[in-house]
Amino acid sequence: MKVPQFMPWVGQTEYREIATCFKSNWITEGPKARVFKEKLLEIIGSKYAVLAPNGTLAIYLGLKALRVGPGDEVIVPDFTFIGSATAVEMCGATPVFVDVNRRNFQIDPTLIPPLITKKTRAIMPVHMYGTLVDMPAVVKIAKKYKLQIIEDAAEAIGVHREGKHAGTFGEVGCFSFFADKTITTAEGGLVVTDKAELYERLLYLRNQGRIKSGTFIHPKIGYNLRMTDLQCAVGLAQLSKINQIIIRKKRILSLYQQQLKDIPGITFFAPDTTSEWIPFRVGILVNRAHELMEYLQKKSIETRTFFYPLHRQPAFAYLKKQGYAKKMADSRFPNSLFGSSHGVCLPTFPALTSTQIHYVCKTIKQFLHDQK
Ligand SMILES: Cc1ncc(COP(=O)(O)O)c(C=O)c1O
Repeated sequence: MKVPQFMPWVGQTEYREIATCFKSNWITEGPKARVFKEKLLEIIGSKYAVLAPNGTLAIYLGLKALRVGPGDEVIVPDFTFIGSATAVEMCGATPVFVDVNRRNFQIDPTLIPPLITKKTRAIMPVHMYGTLVDMPAVVKIAKKYKLQIIEDAAEAIGVHREGKHAGTFGEVGCFSFFADKTITTAEGGLVVTDKAELYERLLYLRNQGRIKSGTFIHPKIGYNLRMTDLQCAVGLAQLSKINQIIIRKKRILSLYQQQLKDIPGITFFAPDTTSEWIPFRVGILVNRAHELMEYLQKKSIETRTFFYPLHRQPAFAYLKKQGYAKKMADSRFPNSLFGSSHGVCLPTFPALTSTQIHYVCKTIKQFLHDQK
C-alpha cells in the first residue's frame, strides 16, 4: 500500500467552477474573486480583505501596509516555514527569531520582551499546524511595547480561539491557499484587517498603486499582487467543501490518536485547550524520528520532518555578520531544535482512508517494536 504525505482534494466540483470562467470569458481577477473574498470574510469575521498570489506575498503585503521597511526588526518564531521570515527580508527589514514552546511549537510570548529593541516594529505570531498561538499573551505584550501584530495564519483557516478566528487578533492576518492548505487555489493568499487605512494601503500596494484597474494614472507605488478568477473558481469549489474537509481532517486526527495512544515513546503535538485544532498536519514527537521516517519511506509511507529552525537556515546566516550572532545561538532555541529533531508529520489529507491510517500506525508500532 502507498500512502502519500499529501494529496489535494480536487476534482469535478473545481473543474465545473473553472469551466464557468471559460464560458464567461473572464479569467483574470473579477467576479469569482469578489465572491471568494466575501465568503472568506464571512468565515474569518474581519471587516476587510485583499487576495494575494500566495501566502508569502500576503505576509509581504501585510508588512508593507504596516510600513515595515529597512532598519526595522520583526519578531518571528524560529519554528515556522521560511516564507514567514523571507517576507520580512523582502521588505528590507530583519527577522529576529524567538523560540517556541515544546507542547505545540507556537511562539513563546514570555521570550518576546527581551528581544524588543528600538528597531522592533512588529511581532509575527505563526499559528502552527492548524491551532492557535496564545494570542491574549501576544496582544498584551504588543500593547505594552506599542508594537504591531501581523499574524501568519497560513495554516489556520477555519480555526478559532475562544470564538475568535485566526488572523483577527492583530492589525493584519495572512492566509495561504497553497495546495496542502485546508482549502487550496493551487497558489493563493489573503490579507485581512479591521482597519480602513490599512485596507486602503493594501489596495494600492496590490494593484499597481491604484485602487481600480482600467486607469493608467497611478497615485502611489504598488505592484501586481493579484489573483486570477481561475484560481478563485477553485477556491469557491473548495469553500463549498470546507465543512467536509474539516470533518475529515478531525476524523483523521482522532483515528491516529486512538491507534497510537498509550504507545511509549510517542507524544502528540498538543494544542492549547482554548484553541480549536483543524490539523494542517498530524504531528508526533519520537526519538529517532529520522530513522522512523526512513523506515516508513521503505514501506511506501511518505512523511515530513517538522520545520527546520530558522536561526540555522543557511539563507539567514548573513544576519550573523550583521550583529545578530548572539541572538542566533543554538542555546536560545532548545524547543525549536527539539521539534526539528523529534517531529514527524504524518500523512494528513481529506481523502486519506482509515485503511491507510491503520497501515501507517501499524508500521510505526512495528518500528518501535523492532527498536526494543
Ligand atoms: C506557516 C506558513 N507561513 C507561510 C507560508 C507561505 O505560504 P505560501 O506557500 O502560500 O507562500 C506557509 C505555507 O507554505 C506556511 O505554512
